[in-house]
Amino acid sequence: MAQPITFLLNGAVETVSDVPPTTTLLQFLRRHKGLTGTKEGCAEGDCGACTIVLGDPEGDGALRDTLRHRAANACILFLPMMHGRSVTTVEGIGRGAGPAPNAAELHPVPRSFVDCHASQCGFCTPGFVMSAYAAWLENEPLDKRSVEDLLAGNLCRCTGYGPIVDATLALNGVRPTDGEATATDSARRLQDAADRGALAYEHGGQRWYGPTTLDELSALYEANPDATIVAGATDVGLWVTKQHRRLDTVIDIGRVRALNELTVSDDTLRIGAGVTCTDAYEAIAERWPDFGELLRRFGGRQVRNAGTIGGNIANGSPIGDSPPALIALGATLVLRKGDTRRRLPLEAFFLDYGKQDRQPGEFVEAVEIPLDTGPEELKCYKISKRFDQDISALCGCFNLRIEDGAVVRARIAYGGMAATPKRAVAVEAALLGRPWTEQTVAAALPAFAEDFTPIDDMRASAGYRLLAAQNLLRRYFHESGRPLRETRLAGREAAFA
Ligand SMILES: Cc1cc2nc3c(=O)[nH]c(=O)nc-3n(C[C@H](O)[C@H](O)[C@H](O)COP(=O)(O)OP(=O)(O)OC[C@H]3O[C@@H](n4cnc5c(N)ncnc54)[C@H](O)[C@@H]3O)c2cc1C
Ligand code: FES
Ligand code: FES
Repeated sequence: MAQPITFLLNGAVETVSDVPPTTTLLQFLRRHKGLTGTKEGCAEGDCGACTIVLGDPEGDGALRDTLRHRAANACILFLPMMHGRSVTTVEGIGRGAGPAPNAAELHPVPRSFVDCHASQCGFCTPGFVMSAYAAWLENEPLDKRSVEDLLAGNLCRCTGYGPIVDATLALNGVRPTDGEATATDSARRLQDAADRGALAYEHGGQRWYGPTTLDELSALYEANPDATIVAGATDVGLWVTKQHRRLDTVIDIGRVRALNELTVSDDTLRIGAGVTCTDAYEAIAERWPDFGELLRRFGGRQVRNAGTIGGNIANGSPIGDSPPALIALGATLVLRKGDTRRRLPLEAFFLDYGKQDRQPGEFVEAVEIPLDTGPEELKCYKISKRFDQDISALCGCFNLRIEDGAVVRARIAYGGMAATPKRAVAVEAALLGRPWTEQTVAAALPAFAEDFTPIDDMRASAGYRLLAAQNLLRRYFHESGRPLRETRLAGREAAFA
């Protein structure tokens, strides 16, 4: 257990063996390295003040010879999760992950913020700059809509977003000249410095395991069923920063490559439990644009870059956004314990509040989605107080098939309406086999009270939830069969025009 955590920090190799494994990256940067440019605003992934850029080795085969860069929130990443990766902070812009700056000149990304007067007190500025820097390093095309999406995970209390958006938009076409070569150089230095094998780290009686294969993971978890599994840590990070929980044994699944795979066969899309929301987005959005839109509104970009679909299921939250959509699509959950796998319909996994059908030592391996739902059959509606970066008050997902004017398939699931994500079986029964008309929809509305007894909380009252859930079925009636762009995207674009 004496292996150090090894990663690149602003281009230089960093080797750490003297901090507790649940030290956050932000704590390490600020307290241990004096890199105070990375700020702490909320310590819960909401404000983006702590944004850094992670570089993950990628490439084919054994030689993963370049880096893919993404923005992430340092406040809810644990330090051992950095093993074998590259971290760039605002102090390191231009070093290790992009062209070296001329000492006399500001790098083009912060320069743009200065030129556009995109900072006042400056507290949020490093976070915004790092979000923009990650996009710039990856040559992302930048337009009004993509920039709003890019910056939705960063909050500013003083400047106003106009100049910040302008500063980021001005980077469009300003491209790194030797960024690729530098990323290759960093990837090689990482390859030399950090062992690609499993990580086992211990400090002060706390143990951190980072297995790399499924067999290692299942053996480890079977032997340590009380361990906490960590995937992206966008939930678990808050247990430490907000609830001050001590995690004695952690198993980090982020290094298990097989769990990061997303595969498509003739009839199934299989998403490994370690696939992040960002990585799942394309495969989902191209098949079901409405589910894609739901994922695009999942946290901010930093949260989606770390948070996994597997974690969103495994946490059992009644307000997780992906389970209602996956249930409506008829997804199957694949669980594994030791050498044994079992499959169950996703809705059967959620037993009660905080209780899932998961045995000690059993983990989520993948979710499998049948490809028998057309792009316009599935509609997903997320109701939240803010459009971006907000948790759902409720979320309704509908998958109906209409043949010869009658309902021949009805799969409807809601989040935020019960102690778990839940199918609306009474509503489905009231629709199945009936003509797809406004009268049928109206006649099905009382069935909502059979399916759901929602609660009042800070996000919505019980009465609001029940009425909104019913109205979403009415809305689905009017929108079903029509493409997303004709319905909500057009509305959003109009709102931001
Ligand atoms: C600022 C912010 C905004 C957010 N916005 C949204 C939102 O809009 N919609 C939404 O649904 N959620 C949101 N979340 C919640 C969170 O991001 C998601 O639930 C995310 O999918 C969790 O994934 P993770 O990989 O980070 O899980 P982790 O935090 O690593 O783990 C979550 C839980 O699942 C368990 N776990 C993880 N993987 C496995 C596995 N393979 N097998 C067994 N157990 C496992 C862990 O032990 C833990 O109990 C937000 C969180 C933050 C901080
Ligand atoms: S400090 Fe607010 S997101 Fe990290
Ligand atoms: S400049 Fe003050 S918070 Fe953004």
